[in-house]
Parts: sequence; structure tokens; C-alpha cells
Amino acid sequence: MTENEARRRMADLTKELEYHEHRYYDLDDPVIDDAAYDALMRELEALEHDWPQFAAPDSPTQRVGGRALDYFEKAAHRRQMLSLANCFDDTELSEFDARVKRFLELPENAEIEYVAEPKMDGLALDLEYENGLLLRALTRGDGLVGEVVTENVRTIRDVPLKLKALPSGDLFGRNAPQFLNIRGEVYMDIKGFEELNRSQAERKRQTFANPRNAAAGSVRQLDPKIAAERPLKFFPHTPGEWPGDDAPRTQMEMLEKLGQLGFRINPEIRLCIGLQAVVERYRELMKMRSELPFEIDGMVVKVNDFALQNRLGQIAKSPRWAVAYKFPAEERTTRINAITVQVGRTGTLTPVAELEPVRVGGVEVRRATLHNQDELSRKDVRVGDWVLVRRAGDVIPEVVRVLPERREHDNPPFRLPAACPVCGAATVREEGKAGIRCPNSDCPAQVQESIVHFVSKGAMNIDGMGPRIVEKLLESGALRSVADIYRLDAATLSNLEGLGEKSAARLLESIAASRRPTLSRFICALGIPGVGATMADVLTENFSDIHSLMQSGRERLEDIYGVGPEVATSILDFFGEERNRARIYDLLKLGVEPQSAPVRELRETPFSGRTFVVTGTLAAFGRLEAEERIRAAGGKAASSVSTRTHALIAGENAGSKLDKAQKLGVPIWNEEEFLRKLEEAEG
Ligand code: IVH
Repeated sequence: MTENEARRRMADLTKELEYHEHRYYDLDDPVIDDAAYDALMRELEALEHDWPQFAAPDSPTQRVGGRALDYFEKAAHRRQMLSLANCFDDTELSEFDARVKRFLELPENAEIEYVAEPKMDGLALDLEYENGLLLRALTRGDGLVGEVVTENVRTIRDVPLKLKALPSGDLFGRNAPQFLNIRGEVYMDIKGFEELNRSQAERKRQTFANPRNAAAGSVRQLDPKIAAERPLKFFPHTPGEWPGDDAPRTQMEMLEKLGQLGFRINPEIRLCIGLQAVVERYRELMKMRSELPFEIDGMVVKVNDFALQNRLGQIAKSPRWAVAYKFPAEERTTRINAITVQVGRTGTLTPVAELEPVRVGGVEVRRATLHNQDELSRKDVRVGDWVLVRRAGDVIPEVVRVLPERREHDNPPFRLPAACPVCGAATVREEGKAGIRCPNSDCPAQVQESIVHFVSKGAMNIDGMGPRIVEKLLESGALRSVADIYRLDAATLSNLEGLGEKSAARLLESIAASRRPTLSRFICALGIPGVGATMADVLTENFSDIHSLMQSGRERLEDIYGVGPEVATSILDFFGEERNRARIYDLLKLGVEPQSAPVRELRETPFSGRTFVVTGTLAAFGRLEAEERIRAAGGKAASSVSTRTHALIAGENAGSKLDKAQKLGVPIWNEEEFLRKLEEAEG
């Protein structure tokens, strides 16, 4: 075959394969069978092998899935991937609208141009294109660092391997530029999900609880050949980076351009002028929800104009220019077959309803929490009852109420046991609390749950140490407490049933990598009741290392904005226990080094290191925003006035806090003064 013949044959094969893919995927009406299609594909692969100089980067062969990986590499996003704040009713939505206008200094009756998009129930993906070619695809990860899943993403037909030229020129054509970064949602439609589960069941493989899990599992599949078989789809929804003169100026314009570049755009996206139009579209979408080919869990509302988006900026990890208006939780009826009792990491006994399986919000639900004895008694839930079950998003399903008219048995009311179902210790009820606890901190259930929490993603993030491995390590005696994790060695691990040599080595690597957690993750990992990831972040802002947190007294803790008396007590109790302190010192001795967040280099400002309280109504911004500005200027925001308050910032109609400040002689700033000081600080 001559060079020219090869080139021509390759072009023909490409066209032919593209045509058959169109018949198969888009029209659902193939005209050749799988074997004939495979033969064409193999012929093209062989030619590309012999004539690599003619192999196109967007050839159909690139979608079949390359070599399997051992693990996913991690990489930093070029820009942080944010998440969305939620709202749950029309009032909260109109508050969002009002905030947008206030921030932009627009009149209250102004009509903002919003884009209303279905909130796809999938997972976010970050795509990087260079010179028009797909370079890299990252999962969201923690927003800063994601996993490199390029090989799997190449197999998704909705993701162009090569961008088409824009009609305006050849920006992404031959003289393709620089760089384009696009974010969107990878998902599985309902039909694809059901077919996948059917075929998984036939082959005695794992089935998935819902399309979201199926999509996530497929994107994080180490073998791209398997990912290629999964019916994954993709809709773009956010620009990451779009440099150059062709950059779109609005969300709608961006979607149009992405369509021209070769992306499939969600047909249910609408431009809505003003709040009322947004509310109407929400009602419409909610009605259509069950008929849509994909699952959605709400509607995303975005300010259309990118210049306005930029002015609005972000607060914490969410943009101020968008909000997710969630759909109300779905409810279904089913029957309670049994009530069992779970023991959590802090020893709390949770009654759990074992249900007749029922689909709620796109997931099969078999168990639902009954929270605690008080809730359970109040709702009078009994074995055999028909109940209403609710599930919203990723939260644990719960029993809403009993349907008394359908009770046909005379089972007695359920009571939590007097002895821990796991270790047999007599349970206790703490005064003033709803929960009943197993007081034995050596209770195997508590030990196991606290280790599972310690290694979890939001805590020490030890990859490859799931609940099953933890259970096995406990059974084998290799683990008795969290400190033992850092004493594990290759010999112990590879003796563990079901853990190959490779996985053992990888697990040791993740353990080693977890030795330098952020201080916040470390605090979260300790499992102090009431101190999750968010509270740990708050504490980290106020303590430079673990020792100063361990030694702090009640006053210092309660001074921190967001730390109430209950959390303060919980922290004091926790560090008051000798065994908890011993465990922390054990971890430090074994080489765990919590890293304090670098102290931000800030000029001295009127706010530096000082504590402020905001009260009353400010004209320029809401209380949360005012507090955000204080923190940005190096100060702290507290919720109650004390002698350590540097100044009270008082807006209109300030009440008891103003009285208290006057009594304590705390300086009072009015809004004008506050703005002046902010200007000075931000100068
Ligand atoms: S815009 C700044 N639009 O929802 C954040 N997100 O918590 C920009 N999602 O992680 C997100 N559909 O993965 C946007 N039409 C849509 C979306 C959408 C689903 C996901 C996204 C994000 C999460 C927000």
C-alpha cells in the first residue's frame, strides 16, 4: 500500500465508522452488526499503527479505551472548582435575587437576566483543551486537586476530542490557540442506567443504586475499555478559562459557542428575565422531572452576564452569582419489616427501620433512620407499620410518619435496648439529650466506626482503606486504635485476606501520604462529637497548632464565632480525657505532623487580630457579608459581645447587643465608620 493509498483508506474508514456510530448512537438504528463494525475499527487501528503520521487525534479509535491504569494520578485544577449554595423555597430564591441586586447596587425592582439550567445529578468534570485538542480531564476532587481521568473521558462521545472551528474564524481550527478550560457534568441517562444494570446482573457483576453512582463508578474505572462500554454522557455548564477575543460575554453565548465547538448542549436550559420567570421555569421543570431522560435534583440559577458574575465574585467556596434551587424531597410509602439498632462512633444508639425495598428519589431504599428514642416515640413507629419515607439528595433516608389508618397489627411500641447490642454494656441516657449511648469507648462498634471516620475522605483521606479493610484489620488484631494505622507494615497487610501485594503497597503509600494532614483534617479526624469538617476549619482559623487547641479554655473557645457552648463543652470533654490526649501524642510520635494553614501575610489594618460583632441592619450588605469582609481584612467575627470585643458594628435597629456593648464600654461603630475602616484596610 502506498502512502497515498493508506491515507485515503484511513479517511474512508473514519467516515464510515462515524456514519455507523451515528446510526447506532443517535438514531438507534444500526445498519451493520457489531462484528462488521469491529472489523472496520481493527482495520483502522492497524493502519494507524503502520502510518502513525496520519493518525488523527480525534480518530474513532481514540474512543475505544486504551491501556488499564494501576491508579489515578492527581493534578491541581488551574482554577478552583467551586460548588453551589442551595435554596429550598421561593422565599430563599428571592433573597438570592435581592442579594444579587444589592451587591450590584441595582434598584430592588430591577430585572436580572438569569439562566435556568437543570441541576444534573452526575459528577463534575474539568476539561482542558490545548490547540483545540482534549489534553486532560480531571474529576472535581476537593475542588483544588482532582483525579486525572483523561483516558476514560476520551471514550465519552459527547466530549469532543478535537474542537470544531467557530464560524467567526478558525480560533479552534487550524491556527488553534492556546487554551480552553470547560467544566460540565458527566451523567448517565435513565435508559442507559437501566440497560447497564440489566447487563451487570446477567453477568453477575455489581449493579448500581442510581445513575449518579453508575456514572461516578464508570468515570473512576481503571480500565478505559470498561468505561468505553458504559453509556456516559456529558453536558458542559461552566467556563473554567476562556482566553482571547472570542471569549463569550454571557452564559447563553458560551453555551451557543460550545455547541458550535462540538459539545451537546442541554436542551432544557432557558434564559429567564427577572425572578418571576425563574420561578415559573422551576415549576415547569419540577412537573417535567419524571419524564426527563435524565435525573435532576433541582435547577441551577445563574446570572447570565459574565461581567456581572465577575463583579459578584464568590463567598467562601460558592459563587455569589448562582444558586441551586433544590427540588423538595421525594416521599413514598412502604412497610417496616424490622427495627434494628446501630452503634455509631461516639457510642450513640440509632434505631434503624428495615424497610420493604422502595424506590425514592431515584434510589432503592431498604433502610431509613429513626434518629433516636424521642423521635421514635413521638412518631410511634412500630414493626409492621406502613410509613412515609423521604429522601433528599445524598442525605440518609428517614421515616417521616406512620400511616395509622393502615396499622393492622398489635405490636408494642419499640424501645431502644438497655444493653449495647454490640458489647453488652449497660446503655446510658445523658441528661438533656435525646440520644442513648453505649458508654464503653472500647466497644468494638465504636472503635471500628471511629477508625472508619479517621481514614475517611474528609478526614485523613487514606485512600484504599475502606470499611471492609478496616473491619478485617480489626479482626486480625493488627489494628486496635487509629495510631496502629501508622504501625502497619507490608508483611501484616499482605497477609490480609483479599488484599493483594499491589493494593497493600498502595495502601502503605496512602498511609505515608496522610502523615502530613492539614491541621483542619487532623482535628476533623479526631472525631470530637459536634466537630466535623466545617467546625474544624473554624478552629484552624483560630489555633495555630493542635497543642494550643488542646490547652484552650472555655472562654477562648466560646469567643470564636460559630462555636457555641455545646461544641465548647464537647471539645473540653474530649481533651479532658486522658486516653484521647494519649492517642494524639501517640499519633504525633509516630510521625503524623498536622500542618497549620500558612498565616496570611496581611498588612496591619484596623481589623488585624481583633474581634468584632455585627448587629442590626446595614444598608450596604447583609450581616454574613459584613463578617466576611471583616475576616478578609484580618479580623475575627464573633456572635456575642464580651469584654474582648474590639468594637460593635451597629446598623439600624440594633437591640440587646448594643445595650450590652454600652454596659461593657465596648466601642460602637456605625456603618459609616465601619465602611471607612474597611476602605482603610482594603485600600
Ligand atoms: S454550575 C460554581 N450548572 O452541581 C459552580 N453546576 O454544587 C458552578 N451541577 O459541582 C456549577 N448541574 O457538578 C452548574 N447546570 C449546572 C449543573 C451543576 C449539575 C453540579 C456541579 C457542581 C454542583 C454544585
